[in-house]
Amino acid sequence: MKGLPGFRDFYPEPLPTADSWSLDLRQYIFKTWRSTAERYGFREYDGPPIEDLELYTKKSGEEIVGQLYNFSDKGDRKVSLRPEMTPTLARMAASHTRNYKKPIKWFSIPQLFRYERQQKGRLREHFQLNADIIGEEHLSADAELISLLIDTLRNLKLTKEDFFVRLSSRQAWQDFFEKNGGEQNNAYAFYQVIDKLEREDPKVSNDKLTKMGFSYDQVNEFILKGQPTEELSAIIENIEARGLGDFIEIDYRIIRGLAYYTGPVYEAFDKRGKFRAIAGGGRYDHLVNLISGGRTSLPALGFGMGDVVLTELLKDRNLIPELSQTINVFVQITDESMRNTSLGLIQQLRQAGITTEYPLLKTKPDKQFKRAFELNAKWLITIESDNQATIKNLESRKEKICPIDDVTEIVKSKL
Ligand code: HAM
Repeated sequence: MKGLPGFRDFYPEPLPTADSWSLDLRQYIFKTWRSTAERYGFREYDGPPIEDLELYTKKSGEEIVGQLYNFSDKGDRKVSLRPEMTPTLARMAASHTRNYKKPIKWFSIPQLFRYERQQKGRLREHFQLNADIIGEEHLSADAELISLLIDTLRNLKLTKEDFFVRLSSRQAWQDFFEKNGGEQNNAYAFYQVIDKLEREDPKVSNDKLTKMGFSYDQVNEFILKGQPTEELSAIIENIEARGLGDFIEIDYRIIRGLAYYTGPVYEAFDKRGKFRAIAGGGRYDHLVNLISGGRTSLPALGFGMGDVVLTELLKDRNLIPELSQTINVFVQITDESMRNTSLGLIQQLRQAGITTEYPLLKTKPDKQFKRAFELNAKWLITIESDNQATIKNLESRKEKICPIDDVTEIVKSKL
């Protein structure tokens, strides 16, 4: 039986086929996401993978509602797998806002589900780093998040030649929309057209814009002028002060497809324009209020960075580190009468935090030796008698005989 389309199997290295997904690579990405977010003072949270359907309808916008993996559960509740983390975060923050000092800086690495047409960079499940700040209106919070986004990618060894962040403003577009006579109930449809401008046939975009009283040229002129608002200038100044100015550009073609954004918005792309967005985010100051039914109001902002495009980009730039399994010790059992003594030592080594492997069954010595190399073992240990063992360093090939009771200490001191 095959897995469902758009869902991935993750294998440990070495991979069965060149296009298999690697769990070791996924762990490398998650570790970098986690350590960078922690370095910026963010705390990890999590929520349920299934939520009340209503959390997403109306709040995220039509596009995501059309992609929901929703169903009725056995209690006839209308539920959905989470397509994004932001509504869950807004719900969690709204319920316990008094318990946390503001600003709240939280991150999460959820698996998300969207019933999309499977294509390059888009699957029906993906993982996302979500980093958000809740309870801070000042633009320094926007700059802090964009810097975290940039540093996360830099910590994966991507440079300014590889990626950049395109910064824009939903508010600037809202002002443009109002100034040019747009009707408020068309606003989201208008943002959707702008969001798709780069991917859609200009004629189709023009037709849609004309129906709302705008023209393609008028919109294009606004984009090309690209005058940074005061807000965007302040964000850029903050990011430049950190020496990260080379990673950011004003670009009004960015508006974000989700409905809830209210202020500065941004997306990260690869510089060669080969891939879809690596990450996207912005300010969503009204979502907590909307989700709490008006009980709590908190400004909020954040971004999501997906693992799918990121993996494609790291592969394209040859930035995948060596991921094969490595162990500290392989305990060779050449004499089966020493198996129990060997098991005693193996247990001691593992309890001391030393990664240890050994043959489960009687195995020819040359096969054991080969296996130790395949596992990149640093040490090969053989019990010679009831109280003596040989320790061999597989890199230098040097070996020595020592009492079994000293083996763990010797290995530990050399790690
Ligand atoms: P988003 O732009 O929908 O934003 O997703 C963020 C990133 O997740 C995208 O740039 C892309 O890399 C990845 N992604 C999205 N959908 C898929 C898919 N079907 N397959 C593979 N990768 C995908 C959000 O989800 C917002 N909730 C982010 C956010 C957090 N805004 C504020 N806080």
